[in-house]
Amino acid sequence: MKRSVLKWGAALALGAFAQVMSTVALADDATQQLVRRGEYLARVGDCVACHTANSSKPFAGGLPIQSPIGTIYSTNITPDTATGIGRYTYEDFERAVRHGISKQGYTLYPAMPYPSYAHVHDEDMRALYAYFMHGVAPVSQSDHAEGIAWPMSMRWPLTLWRWAFAPKVEASSPPPGTDPVIARGAYLVEGLAHCSACHTPRGVGMQELALTAQQGSTFLSGGGQIDNWIATDLRGDPATGLGAWSEADLETFLKSGATDRTAAFGGMTDVVQHSTQYMTDADRTAIAKYLKSLPGTKGEVRPAYDAAISTALHSGDVTRPGADTYLNSCAACHRSDGKGYASVFPALALNPVVTGGDPTSLIHIVLAGSSTPATKAAPAQFTMPPYGWRLSDAEVANVLTLLRSSWGNHASPVTATQVAKVRAAIPVASLGAAPKR
Ligand code: HEC
Ligand code: HEC
Ligand code: HEC
Repeated sequence: MKRSVLKWGAALALGAFAQVMSTVALADDATQQLVRRGEYLARVGDCVACHTANSSKPFAGGLPIQSPIGTIYSTNITPDTATGIGRYTYEDFERAVRHGISKQGYTLYPAMPYPSYAHVHDEDMRALYAYFMHGVAPVSQSDHAEGIAWPMSMRWPLTLWRWAFAPKVEASSPPPGTDPVIARGAYLVEGLAHCSACHTPRGVGMQELALTAQQGSTFLSGGGQIDNWIATDLRGDPATGLGAWSEADLETFLKSGATDRTAAFGGMTDVVQHSTQYMTDADRTAIAKYLKSLPGTKGEVRPAYDAAISTALHSGDVTRPGADTYLNSCAACHRSDGKGYASVFPALALNPVVTGGDPTSLIHIVLAGSSTPATKAAPAQFTMPPYGWRLSDAEVANVLTLLRSSWGNHASPVTATQVAKVRAAIPVASLGAAPKR
């Protein structure tokens, strides 16, 4: 009798124990899932791009970011309790990421794209928090002293900036009835993916002129210079925007960093390498559909290919300024018909990158060269060599003026003064050097 009571007792206890264990396992599983979801969202938000200076110490901060008022250093966002954000509660974290207010109460520089992150939903914020607390290794590394000189180093003007420009609403709000796929695209682009931080023009206070599609047609209509690269128009403009791109082109570009006709460079290389290549196909489709839903605003007509210059170059006619440089230095890869080699060397004909208003990117890529991003989908990298060491400012200006007015491209000429300005702004080492013999 005693024994059976004992047995029963043991069975009950075991049952209760098993139940407790399975609740623990469930909670654990739920946390794991939340952490994994947070890891995905951190990729969508590309937190690593700015918060990592040394790839062996992810999220430990210290990356210098150039801004018009001086150098800003990103901070340590690993869960280290002494030097990172290990002591941040969810509320502290949420205030920093969505509202730009540090735990100590001062306003963050908007180099941290909190005006976009303000649109992130609570549940995604909770997943991000779970990831940064439980999925990221703590790194002990103190934050860098500030590189901004007084008076711009004072934080209170930033608070005024935040009051004036940071959004008061927290959810991006496509109009009711919007296709749910497009709404998902809007949520990502206007929020975590912060595409507008580079692709939207800024006003006199350095604020983005629009933070959502609803706020105006300047949204994603092409940004200013960032590190001497220009983020192009992502609206439907057919010559200088994405009007001639298909949804499939966009998906391929975000996944692999290239299409048949173009390849990512400048700041976009990092975006593809750290962020968009890791997105799910569904999220890339949502972004593509959403971008294709943004109408053009410049009244452009879709340009048509024009073979006149190809014919001239083919017959060795180099009377046009820049033609000899093009034949000697560029045509081997980009071809005399300007059509390049599909998925290897970009086309220069009818390419929005070539015909955009500001030629800074073009000058930069010719002076410094570039390598295509390496992605899981397109692991092979293709390289364009730097020409800064051997082409003069006038030669670069002439060849780019030729590019911008050939094969159906219609854009303003480039001057030697513009080339000299970019040359002076980029590191001398990036200009290349004569091969050693
Ligand atoms: C474009 C660059 C950039 C991106 C992308 C970025 N940050 Fe930041 N972040 C910064 C900079 C710069 C600071 C420091 C600002 C300052 O000191 O005023 C900062 C500060 C922070 C802080 C405040 C930390 C502290 O020390 O108080 C947190 C938290 C933070 N970022 C989290 C994130 C998360 C999470 C993501 C991704 C969802 C992210 N950041 C993406 C640039 C960036
Ligand atoms: C750090 C700045 C930066 C961010 C953030 C950024 N881009 Fe870009 N993007 C650029 C630059 C610079 C270019 C021009 C170079 C090139 O074509 O790759 C570009 C080019 C592009 C192009 C190619 C346009 C063309 O005509 O060739 C697409 C498409 C694009 N970006 C989409 C996006 C999307 C979608 C996002 C958000 C997920 C985004 N970008 C975020 C800097 C950025
Ligand atoms: C060895 C082959 C090669 C040569 C020679 C070359 N390029 Fe390129 N070019 C490339 C590659 C590869 C890219 C893509 C780079 C990237 O995406 O980072 C590129 C990109 C470009 C782009 C940006 C187009 C886009 O959509 O990505 C322009 C503009 C350009 N080249 C102009 C020139 C000019 C002008 C010359 C001659 C002065 C030249 N290139 C010589 C290989 C070459």
